[in-house]
Amino acid sequence: MNTKKILILNGPNLNLLGRREPHVYGSQSMEQTLNSLRTQYPELEIEYAQSNHEGTLIDTLHQVGFDPEYVGVVLNAGAYTHTSLALADAIRAIDTPVIEVHISNVWSREDFRHHSFLSPACKGVIAGFGMSSYRLAIEALLS
Ligand code: DQA
Repeated sequence: MNTKKILILNGPNLNLLGRREPHVYGSQSMEQTLNSLRTQYPELEIEYAQSNHEGTLIDTLHQVGFDPEYVGVVLNAGAYTHTSLALADAIRAIDTPVIEVHISNVWSREDFRHHSFLSPACKGVIAGFGMSSYRLAIEALLS
């Protein structure tokens, strides 16, 4: 049997995790988080992609979104969460379930972060648990 795959897909500015506003996003890098997740879930193939470009994020969703080997996508779309109808449409267009993830608790922050175009298109939302939000999203996909 093929290994089950999960794609973690990060959007703009999340390439700077560990360095970017550590008081909001913590000091752990994505690489450290991925190492820990791959150790915790040896039965999964955890793929990772990041882009600062909306179209590239959409292309990536199209690439994995019809492949039954993927259990799901863990998507932190960064600020595109609050602006992108095109990403919401891409999530609706694909077969693979998508979990929306945020490191910070977006509802305890500025008003413009309270609205997500993506949430209605996603299977669920996990926010506010720091880098553990990624692990909790994987648990949600496996449950
Ligand atoms: C974020 C929250 C967004 O509002 C913000 O634009 C980000 C990161 C989070 O993980 O907490 O870039 O998605």
